[in-house]
Amino acid sequence: PSDAANDVSPAKTLRILAQEVAECTRCHELAATRTQTVFGVGDPQARLCFLGEAPGADEDKQGEPFVGRAGQLLNKILEACKLRREDVYILNVLKCRPPGNRNPLPEESLNCRRYLNRQLQLIQPEFICCLGSVAAQNLLETTETIGRLRGKVHQFRGVKVVCTYHPAYLLRNPSAKKQTWEDMKLLMRELGTPVD
Ligand code: URA
Repeated sequence: PSDAANDVSPAKTLRILAQEVAECTRCHELAATRTQTVFGVGDPQARLCFLGEAPGADEDKQGEPFVGRAGQLLNKILEACKLRREDVYILNVLKCRPPGNRNPLPEESLNCRRYLNRQLQLIQPEFICCLGSVAAQNLLETTETIGRLRGKVHQFRGVKVVCTYHPAYLLRNPSAKKQTWEDMKLLMRELGTPVD
């Protein structure tokens, strides 16, 4: 019988996890300076997750990942891949905004890792696209540069991983968009819905 009390769907478990994250104070500085946590957005059953670094000022205000300038570029990238934001799942390594948008400290990434792992366990995506070196290095536990990690398919616990430049990097370095488009074509070919 599937009465509400027995409902343990990934979507519901994700909502419970989001509540837990919203109350997290493991990183004292982040908990004290954040407006709110930014858990993630999209389809809890998505085949594809996009993993970013951490919320910025806009995300901290709105409670949703990638809603600022970088997010607008990510939306364009999704559109070019004929993907809808609501059909993928978008999340970050850190659920709190680091003050002044500094990089996550190793201890902060470690504190938040349990939430990221749990999200990925629940969503069970087939593919993860890491946006930028912080996401890629964190997920894959490597110190390789994004320039060396991009352009090929990696594995994380049986999930295929494609890494590319962060949209915020592309805003500063538009010439790298060509390589990100190559990475997206690789990803979409792997997904079985090629865009080239
Ligand atoms: N940059 C990120 O890495 N994540 C966001 O959610 C916004 C900007």
